[in-house]
Amino acid sequence: MRGYIGKLPKDVVGLLKICADAAEGLGFRAYVVGGFVRDLILGVRNLDVDIAIEGGGIAFADELSKKLGGEAVRHKHFGTATVVSKDGFKIDIATARKESYHAPAQLPTVKPGLIEDDLKRRDFTINAMAIDISRSGFGRLLDLFDCREDLKTGKIRVLHDRSFIDDPTRIMRAVRFEQRYDFRIEPRTETLLREAAELKMLDIVQKHRVRDELMLMLKEDEPIRCIKRLNNIYGFSFLHPGLKLDNNIFGLLKDVGGVITWFRKRFPSKRPLDTWLMYLMALLDRLSVPAVNVVCGHFAFRRGETKRIISCKKDVNSVIGFLKKKGLRPYLIYKKLEPLTYEVILLAYVKSGSKAVKQRVVDFLSSYNETRISVSGEDIRAIGLSPGPRFKKMLEEILFAKIDGRIKTRKDELDYLRRKGKAKNR
Ligand code: CTP
Repeated sequence: MRGYIGKLPKDVVGLLKICADAAEGLGFRAYVVGGFVRDLILGVRNLDVDIAIEGGGIAFADELSKKLGGEAVRHKHFGTATVVSKDGFKIDIATARKESYHAPAQLPTVKPGLIEDDLKRRDFTINAMAIDISRSGFGRLLDLFDCREDLKTGKIRVLHDRSFIDDPTRIMRAVRFEQRYDFRIEPRTETLLREAAELKMLDIVQKHRVRDELMLMLKEDEPIRCIKRLNNIYGFSFLHPGLKLDNNIFGLLKDVGGVITWFRKRFPSKRPLDTWLMYLMALLDRLSVPAVNVVCGHFAFRRGETKRIISCKKDVNSVIGFLKKKGLRPYLIYKKLEPLTYEVILLAYVKSGSKAVKQRVVDFLSSYNETRISVSGEDIRAIGLSPGPRFKKMLEEILFAKIDGRIKTRKDELDYLRRKGKAKNR
């Protein structure tokens, strides 16, 4: 087997061979492209397989899903489809295409094309390679623009001078890839990027595309590096007029990064955090609730995301205010924090600037939130009470008493139940 493909795990190679068969049967040529090839050459694990088809992408997807026994989700309008195999591999399929841009930042007109056309239309050299996975050329690398050299020397380079004008979201992508791989945007590309920044190109591109890129950036392993670099090259007023990131905001971002690391280490079994949301809240920290609402509407954040963003904005301050109160009993802290998300709780921790608040958050996460009681509905029934809404309330009261340290053992819990039962039957 030729070259880079040989580096892939056996099951992925097997999958690509099934793709080769599916393409052959239809008389098409198939290529793996883009980020998959980039990461394969870099030796970085990436199991999102992107396939370009010289021929019909949708017909290929139908054929492939038959062979894999998977499902094809088609996006007919774009000539693309996604197939998920039984083993959980996600394969994005598109017809190889030629693009022509008629106006800055507007979506291009698309025509079916050859793989060479498809590589030419791409953002950066590092993402513009393909590997043939057709039977006759299985494993052959197509490197039309010296892409491998840029990958080797760590350069982010556009394929033509209008790249950022045609598609301004590439401004954010350039920064993201540069920071992710510790590469460098090469000088000509940086000049073009700064020119696009002068023209405020992110202001005229479709907003939901900017949102998607922003979220991808905030989901990177090291988002603060990306934020710093984008701030230096472009600034952040594209998010909201006048939004400036000063040292305080960078301090907050760093603290958010710190608390995320701490939380993961200290509580590895708790659910994973939506870290993008925490970084976004730090970025938007200066804005009022109505201003954050405007940002969410403007960038067409989905309803669920908007709800979470606004709730973070509102709840964090109310939590800090509450946790600063003197003489709070543990169960009251539990009652306040338990319905909230970890993101809100940790943002309150970071933003409070108060040792007492931080300690209460730690107590909640490590102790109150871990408290379990041993009695159940069965035990309530056993003392002669009939089931009803009061059951839930009684169990909750026992939990609160245990969090407060008023009861400790199973015997204490049962005694408590009996006392309650007697009071009720009296
Ligand atoms: N692409 C592009 N211009 C864009 C977005 C994408 O040219 N604005 C091309 C690139 O060739 C890219 C491919 O489409 O490699 C797939 O895009 P995407 O899935 O967003 O990026 P990946 O390269 O797979 O990056 P990641 O590792 O972040 O998923």
